[in-house]
This record gives sequence, structure tokens and C-alpha cells, in this order.
Amino acid sequence: QLIDPVKVRLSSVRISVIGCGYLGAVHAACMASLGHQVIGLDVDEAKVASLNSGVPPFYEPGFAELLDEQLAGGRLEFTTDPGRIAQAQIHFIAVGTPQLAGRYAADLSYVRAAVQTLIENVDTSKGPAVIAGKSTVPVGTARHIQDLCDESGNDLIVVWNPEFLREGFAVTDTVHPDRIVYGLPDDPDRAEVGRKVLDECYAELLATGIPRLLTNHPTAELVKVAANSFLATKISFINAMAQLCDATGGDVTQLAEAIGYDDRIGKKFLRAGVGFGGGCLPKDIRAFMARAGELGVDEALTFLREVDAINLRQRDKAVEMASNLLGGRFVGHKVAVLGAAFKPNSDDLRDSPALEVAQQIWSRGADLVITDPAAADALRSKLPNLNVVDTVAEAVAGADVVLLLTEWQEYRDLDPRELRALVRTPNIVDGRNVLDPQRWADAGWTYRGMGRLAGPAAARAQV
Ligand code: UGA
Repeated sequence: QLIDPVKVRLSSVRISVIGCGYLGAVHAACMASLGHQVIGLDVDEAKVASLNSGVPPFYEPGFAELLDEQLAGGRLEFTTDPGRIAQAQIHFIAVGTPQLAGRYAADLSYVRAAVQTLIENVDTSKGPAVIAGKSTVPVGTARHIQDLCDESGNDLIVVWNPEFLREGFAVTDTVHPDRIVYGLPDDPDRAEVGRKVLDECYAELLATGIPRLLTNHPTAELVKVAANSFLATKISFINAMAQLCDATGGDVTQLAEAIGYDDRIGKKFLRAGVGFGGGCLPKDIRAFMARAGELGVDEALTFLREVDAINLRQRDKAVEMASNLLGGRFVGHKVAVLGAAFKPNSDDLRDSPALEVAQQIWSRGADLVITDPAAADALRSKLPNLNVVDTVAEAVAGADVVLLLTEWQEYRDLDPRELRALVRTPNIVDGRNVLDPQRWADAGWTYRGMGRLAGPAAARAQV
């Protein structure tokens, strides 16, 4: 076969992606895999060099293979030179919007810099170009960017096109999203151009029947933060139920299963434990509250404060459980922590519940050892004072309590009998409720889950 129909597309779009972190690098490679010509722009030379040589600067299953394939195919390239993006027809903004230091609001400095780069470099002399915002931004940002572009005299059309990918599933989520949202400008002619260009980009995905929703700028921005707020609320809801289970001798995993059979509720995102972390959910709900305050509707989101508080309490709860197993003192005890990343299949340590629990225990004087299959190196450079080891065996050797805080498959599969032979005292805190309490108890362990039977409350309830 001389022509590969997948590789030769008639309507290949010239795309630039500004910001090649987690979201941008994966988006760039996925767009290239759909047959488009893509250039990724970033200010970080080391990151660009790494991506151009096919080495992902972060851990993401499946991304290394995709990157290699697309670089070899010649449709994907990364650069630090903003002049190279001049001729692209669509520019995706995929820079970070972290929480501002000491405040709830989002830091929009990277978005502002990206817009400035676009205004200075994009050539619209032969026709309009489209800016598609992917970053999670406070509602109102897209309209503001459109105004800035208009003031600059460039013919740039802003569309907000939020991203819903999960770390650990970034490639799959990008090429098989459950919906695609376009927040279009109010001007109908511009909206039509924006829609057409995005339709061309996503033609292959839309052809498979993925729902595409057309709306305005503020709705698209709100869809993203509303989705993350809902997910965070679901997790905090089940963690609140876990507290009730602890107080009464109930079992939250059974409770979640039972309520989850009602498909209005559903079973997903009802796993109780040390709670949510990462670079999205925590900062997004805070930025949403801050934005509601600016808009004079803060009361509408007061409940998110409670969602945040419940979530953070789970971390303290895990520390307290470990402390109780050690008779109330960490000093003089060896504590093994399994997992540092905010969730499995990721090396992301941002706002990680596992890491915060480990740091609290360490600061209370424990001889703490921590391990993680993917985040160990990142952890060593981020927190050189922590004792980071490479294997579970090294971590648990002589431990008085083991805490499982990130549910990597290899930790779920641990054999309690084998582990029993390595520790000094067989105490286990299952911070993600993924172990079988009976199996661990049968192997001689004192098991504590988060809102699960086999804890002290269960014993009280039986009295
Ligand atoms: C989240 C959203 O799920 C994505 O849809 C969104 O695109 C992304 O944020 C973003 O805004 O970019 P992500 O941060 O990768 O994705 O992680 P999740 O899979 O949502 O997990 C978040 C946290 O919640 C993790 O710490 C996880 O351990 C915790 N979690 C999740 C629970 O504690 N219980 C659950 O039942 C589910």
C-alpha cells in the first residue's frame, strides 16, 4: 500500500499549542496523531529539548510511544521560538493556571503571557486565526482575551474549548473525550469561523459520534469548573459518610456500593479515603470560590468551602489513625508510607494527600520512609529531607505502621503474609480502602480503613 489513508489527510490543520506541560504536550501529540501539522511552543528550553528527543518530561502511560511515533512521522515539533507559530490557523492555549501564593484565586500570568505572544507573533494579514483556550480559567477570561486581541488590531477569534482529561489517562481522554465543548464569541460571523476551524481539528473524533456542544464563552468556562466542583463534592460527600461510618460502625465501601446502584447517583468517584489532590480539583474549587466572590455571588459557592474542609480533614484523620496505632506517639517509631503521588499512574506531587500525610507524620518525629513507583525521583529533588526508597521491601523493613496512601496496583496486590515477615509491628492504615480487611487481619495485621469496619468504632458498635 503506497498511501496510508490515516497519515495523509486532505484537511490537515496547521496547529500551535502554547504551553507544553501535561495538557499541552499531550494535546499536541494527539492532534498530530489526528493528521494535523503541530508545533508546540514553550519557554522552558530543557522541556522542549526533552520533548523533541522523544523523552516525556512527566510520567504518563502511553505518552512516550505516541510522542515517538508523531515525532518520527514529521508532523510534530516543539520549539521555544514564538516566530514559528506565525502561520498556524489555530492556537491552543494550554498553559497552567495555578493557585496564587497565599490566595484562593488563580494565577493568570501564564495565560496573559501566552496571549501577548500570540498578539505579537500571529500573522493575520491573510485572514483570521483562531485562539482556542484549553486552560482552566476564571469565568470572564475568554471575553477579556477577545477584547485584548481586538484592541491589538489583529484578526484573532477566541473560542473556549475546555479540557476534561485525567492524568494517567491523558492520551485516551484526549482522543476519546466524552464531550467536546466550544465556547464561541458573541459575534455570529466570528462564531461561525471558530466553529468551522475547531470542527476541522476534531473532524475524526466528531465522526465517531462524540457529542459536541456549542455555547458562549462564559458557559464553556463554567462547564469546566462546574464539572471539577461536582467531582470534588462527590468525593467529599463520601468522605463525610466515612466519618459517619467511623462514628457508628458502618462500612463506607458497602454504603457507596449500595447507593451507587441508583444510576442517578452512580458508583464512580465515591471512593472514600485520604481525599482528592493534584493540580486541578483543589485549586479549581478555590479559584471558583474566589471568582464567585468577585462577582458578588459568593454565597452560591459557600458549600465548596465545606467540600475543601472535609477533604483536608481526611488527611488529618489518616495521621491520627497512624498515631493511635502507635499509642499516640510517633517519636521512636518507624513509619512506612506507600505512595506519594496524588493518585496512581502519575508522578504528580502537587497537593498530594499522601505527601501531606507523610510530611505531618515526619514533622511529628517519626522515622519515616516513603516510596512510590513513579514519583520517587521527583520526591527526592522536591523534599530532600524525606527518606525516599525505591522498593516496598526497603520501606516497610522494621516498620511499626504501614500507610497505603496512593493506590498503585502493585500496592493493592501486596501479599499481607509476605509483608508481615518484614515489619516490626503489623499495623496497616489503608488510606484508600483498597485492601481486603479480612485477608489482612487473617495474616495477623491490625487493619484500619477510612470509614470501614475492622476499626475501633466497629468494635464499639458490636458491644
Ligand atoms: C481531574 C478531573 O477528573 C478531570 O476531568 C479534569 O480534566 C482534570 O482534573 C483537570 O482539571 O485538568 P485529575 O486531577 O487527573 O483529573 O484526577 P482525578 O482522577 O479526578 O482524581 C483527583 C483526586 O481525587 C485524586 O487525588 C484521587 O485520588 C481522588 N479521588 C478520586 C478520590 O479520593 N476518590 C474518588 O472516588 C476519586
